[in-house]
Amino acid sequence: MAAYSGHVRAAAAAAAAIIWTQAVTAAPANLSTSPSDVASTAGSQQSGSCYFLPQDAQWPSQADWRKLNQSVGGRLIQGKPLAQRCHGADYNAAACADIRARWTEPLTYFVDPVNVMSPYWLNNSCSPFTAPEASCTLGNIASYAINVSNAQDVIAGFKFAKEKNIRLTVKNTGHDYIGRSNGEGSLALWTHNLKGVSFQNYTSPSYSGPAAKVSAGAQFFEIYKAAGDRGLRIMGGYCPTVGMAGGFVQGAGHGPLAATYGLAADNTLEFDVVTSDGRRLTATKTKNKDLYWALSGGGPGTYAVVLSVTTKAHPDGIVAGGSFTIDNTHDDSYWAAIAAWHRHLLVLDRIHGFNTVWGFTNASFNLAFATWPGHDASETSAALAPFFQEISTLPNITVTAAETQDHTSFYDHYEYYTGAAPYGPYTTNDIIGGRLIPRSTAATRSTDFVALLRNISRTPGLPSLRINGISNNVTHARAGNTPGANAVLPAWRDSLYWLNIDILIDPASPTAEIKRIQAQMNDFQHRLRAFTPGGGAYINEATWDNPDWKEDYFGPNYGRLLSVKAAYDAGDVLYAHTSVGSEAKVVAADGRTCKRRNLPGH
Ligand SMILES: Cc1cc2nc3c(=O)[nH]c(=O)nc-3n(C[C@H](O)[C@H](O)[C@H](O)COP(=O)(O)OP(=O)(O)OC[C@H]3O[C@@H](n4cnc5c(N)ncnc54)[C@H](O)[C@@H]3O)c2cc1C
Ligand SMILES: *[C@@H]1O[C@H](CO)[C@@H](O)[C@H](O)[C@H]1NC(C)=O
Ligand SMILES: *[C@@H]1O[C@H](CO)[C@@H](O)[C@H](O)[C@H]1NC(C)=O
Ligand SMILES: *[C@@H]1O[C@H](CO)[C@@H](O)[C@H](O)[C@H]1NC(C)=O
Ligand SMILES: *[C@@H]1O[C@H](CO)[C@@H](O)[C@H](O)[C@H]1NC(C)=O
Ligand SMILES: *[C@@H]1O[C@H](CO)[C@@H](O)[C@H](O)[C@H]1NC(C)=O
Ligand SMILES: *[C@@H]1O[C@H](CO)[C@@H](O)[C@H](O)[C@H]1NC(C)=O
Ligand SMILES: *[C@@H]1O[C@H](CO)[C@@H](O)[C@H](O)[C@H]1NC(C)=O
Ligand SMILES: *[C@@H]1O[C@H](CO)[C@@H](O)[C@H](O)[C@H]1NC(C)=O
Ligand SMILES: *[C@@H]1O[C@H](CO)[C@@H](O)[C@H](O)[C@H]1NC(C)=O
Repeated sequence: MAAYSGHVRAAAAAAAAIIWTQAVTAAPANLSTSPSDVASTAGSQQSGSCYFLPQDAQWPSQADWRKLNQSVGGRLIQGKPLAQRCHGADYNAAACADIRARWTEPLTYFVDPVNVMSPYWLNNSCSPFTAPEASCTLGNIASYAINVSNAQDVIAGFKFAKEKNIRLTVKNTGHDYIGRSNGEGSLALWTHNLKGVSFQNYTSPSYSGPAAKVSAGAQFFEIYKAAGDRGLRIMGGYCPTVGMAGGFVQGAGHGPLAATYGLAADNTLEFDVVTSDGRRLTATKTKNKDLYWALSGGGPGTYAVVLSVTTKAHPDGIVAGGSFTIDNTHDDSYWAAIAAWHRHLLVLDRIHGFNTVWGFTNASFNLAFATWPGHDASETSAALAPFFQEISTLPNITVTAAETQDHTSFYDHYEYYTGAAPYGPYTTNDIIGGRLIPRSTAATRSTDFVALLRNISRTPGLPSLRINGISNNVTHARAGNTPGANAVLPAWRDSLYWLNIDILIDPASPTAEIKRIQAQMNDFQHRLRAFTPGGGAYINEATWDNPDWKEDYFGPNYGRLLSVKAAYDAGDVLYAHTSVGSEAKVVAADGRTCKRRNLPGH
């Protein structure tokens, strides 16, 4: 998610050497433990239970790749590490300095066919910050990518991957945090260049009104502008460079308009997809409706490849905004003010459309921005006034930089608060994790809960740690649908806000440091879980190593989602870390993805 208030957050994904030792009957307690059942895959590939890797004799030949390239009109690209020119025979000082300077910009990654933003999955396999003689390999990123231009390219990719027994991945922007848009030795379907947003008056039994057909590669900086130019607005994300149709919509999708229109997955009308058996299908509430249900929040890259999503568009109009800062000038007062904010969120939660994104460190709290469509600045000031009133009684608390704004359109409001158009202020190279915080926690335990956040925010050795909150009432009443209408994790409906902990890491960090921070994040996540039973977590902004992933990301929907996957991806071609059905596979220590042993039917 976010560079809310100028504090940057980041992105991305890749698959890796994760070793699962537990039997699959129970959720693994700890996914990162030492090798046992799949420590060595030597020989297993012979039996067809593992995908081939480039070092195998059975890896497709140059002639095979040439044939594939011809079948996709010359759109096959060989994967290359971004920092290749920083190492070995390819070393070039100027080219290396250039990539080093651009290393934390999302732009560097979303225009690249294979590289992803997450430092954990990049894993320093080819770092621009190591010496020229240090090794430079693809590591967790794909070996080849098809620069997808139409359904035929996707079909050709599926066919090749199945025939040659190699792993297939789907990459759009590469923002994914948990390794779902990359995989070692894979052929990637790169959907970024499927651009385009078109508008229509949609008619269906459940919805008639404006709609936008958004191609798989379209990003919010393009989508918001296109909608705004037509007097419309769309429920999208905070970050301008996230893609709509990939991870965002398929994983739920939160953003500044969620308290008005529900999550992105609540706004979907239609998906145009290609399945792994080469069929092109349309999924709506009435056609292939189980697929529509799963694609609307049930996790990306799992059921089919999406070519476009058609989403509701909404008439634009005025939007009010607001922001403020509270610096920690008196420690107990400061944390009491944060507890008071939690209680006041319960009031803002009942105001239709009032949406906030905020964050804090031990030093400062900041409402990055409130969004309130159809209302004005003075009403926004009035909505915040009772909170300021309450904290005014605390010693040494001063609110600074408080302001509210009027804008005539959503686009103007969004640009004003996000800044740095078109790509925004967000950077990569962070690690993220968090918890959906139920309303009951703020209602009955705000003081204790804030004590936990105070403790987390002071963890030694993590100076960049920031805790962010995105508060948007996305109850079914707001979203305009009913329980079970789509596969969004039900915990979203009961949550007051999505809490994420964001830790920026130095791009030159050694692998051990990245691992240390990742383990720390997992520990925070366990403590938040213990405090918020049933809270769940947002899969799109999660740590990679969550032993409770099924429960936390899919909750009661898991079983039904698994049957939808079996129906539309019968060959189990689409695999991504912690996606539905992913328990059937394992990525071994040598990077090879295999069917899990001891699994009934495998
Ligand atoms: C800086 C930053 C800001 C963010 N801000 C927000 C925010 O405001 N709100 C929010 O809800 N989330 C936010 N996120 C999280 C974001 O939703 C996820 O990272 C999401 O996975 C991105 O989807 P993508 O398609 O752009 O990225 P990718 O990494 O390319 O893909 C993500 C997943 O989608 C799959 N996928 C991609 N394209 C397709 C396709 N055409 N068909 C099928 N599967 C596909 C991939 O296989 C992968 O599983 C943010 C992330 C970052 C890094
Ligand atoms: C990262 O690379 C190291 C080797 O340097 C390897 O042992 C480890 O498994 C890799 N981790 C991931 C997540 O790929
Ligand atoms: C695919 O073909 C095109 C056009 O001939 C060529 O430019 C490209 O390098 C080829 N891709 C690979 C991976 O060889
Ligand atoms: C991918 O295809 C698009 C056209 O769809 C083209 O503009 C772009 O240059 C191609 N990218 C690469 C890296 O080949
Ligand atoms: C939708 O209908 C309205 C009202 O008739 C019309 O003004 C608008 O141009 C139509 N939009 C599209 C994209 O056809
Ligand atoms: C959420 O929004 C709905 C619809 O506006 C409202 O009735 C409700 O009070 C809000 N809060 C909760 C906890 O449901
Ligand atoms: C309040 O703040 C002022 C100035 O920041 C400081 O001098 C004073 O000691 C503080 N009082 C308390 C009770 O912390
Ligand atoms: C946070 O709480 C843990 C567990 O109670 C404790 O061990 C740790 O010292 C605390 N950290 C800080 C910075 O207070
Ligand atoms: C937290 O902030 C308070 C007030 O500025 C300060 O006294 C304290 O040292 C800070 N603690 C940490 C761990 O930074
Ligand atoms: C997993 O277990 C290992 C060994 O017990 C431990 O070192 C590691 O920190 C654990 N990881 C997580 C994410 O809990």
